[in-house]
Amino acid sequence: MIESSAPAAAAAGFEGSRPAITVAGVSKWFPTASGEPLHVLDNISLEVAEHSILGILGASGSGKSTLLNIISGLVTPDRGRVCINGVPSEQFKDWRSVSYMFQEDRLLPWRTACRNVEFALEAASMPKAERKRRAQEALDLVGLSGFSDAFPFQLSGGMRSRVALARSLVLEPCILLMDEPFSRLDAQTRSLMHAELLRIHRLKKMTIVFVTHDVEESVVLADNVAVMAPRPGRVRELVGIELDRPRDSTAPEVTQYIQRLRALI
Ligand SMILES: Nc1ncnc2c1ncn2[C@@H]1O[C@H](COP(=O)(O)OP(=O)(O)OP(=O)(O)O)[C@@H](O)[C@H]1O
Ligand SMILES: [Mg+2]
Repeated sequence: MIESSAPAAAAAGFEGSRPAITVAGVSKWFPTASGEPLHVLDNISLEVAEHSILGILGASGSGKSTLLNIISGLVTPDRGRVCINGVPSEQFKDWRSVSYMFQEDRLLPWRTACRNVEFALEAASMPKAERKRRAQEALDLVGLSGFSDAFPFQLSGGMRSRVALARSLVLEPCILLMDEPFSRLDAQTRSLMHAELLRIHRLKKMTIVFVTHDVEESVVLADNVAVMAPRPGRVRELVGIELDRPRDSTAPEVTQYIQRLRALI
């Protein structure tokens, strides 16, 4: 059954659970060379319930990365506000509980997989042995136990994505933000990574917001999908994906959602 589309301002999560992320009336303009500011986001409002998964889907340039940057605190909105666990982001202190996985893996080529994951822990004053133990644990979690001493050039694209995921998970985040994390992978590796991410989500129960161009990915992973419209970016529709997991991308009820979301983009 396909339903539960809701206005843009409605909650993107499970009714009754508290929001991990609240985006309220966020607008953003960027300066341009012509002097005419570029209106990138217009009055975005969303709530992401704790432990839920929100997909953000939209055409290139519709402001998806900018929205993620604003949620992560890297970019300040011109209007509106973001709250993390109910705290306005400008007052929020516990940014180490929020991980951001960028589109490119950003692995350091001169460090092994383990040392790349340890990198995320280096800001924390933690004994070296403890760092190593935690990094190894994160690599185990993403299925890379035997590759901790491999350098990035010795790893496949899928393995590199797993290292980047391990680095995002090593601080045990409550919130995981992901910007097109699997877009460079082939279809087969991508669906392996989907299964992996859902397995980790079942274990760790973090709140996830991910940006994607891939409609199928959004239906397979998300509890809710925010479809963005461009120029200026706004939430055109919020679609709740009311299907049990795991979701087979060829099942009729999944393809119905895929068709519906495609029609909205
Ligand atoms: N720092 C910046 N300064 C000026 N303009 C910017 C900046 N960051 C983004 N923009 C502009 O804002 C608009 C939205 O960019 P954004 O990267 O958020 O889009 P997106 O939806 O993530 O696109 P894509 O799917 O291609 O990654 C674009 O027109 C872009 O040129
Ligand atoms: Mg982007």
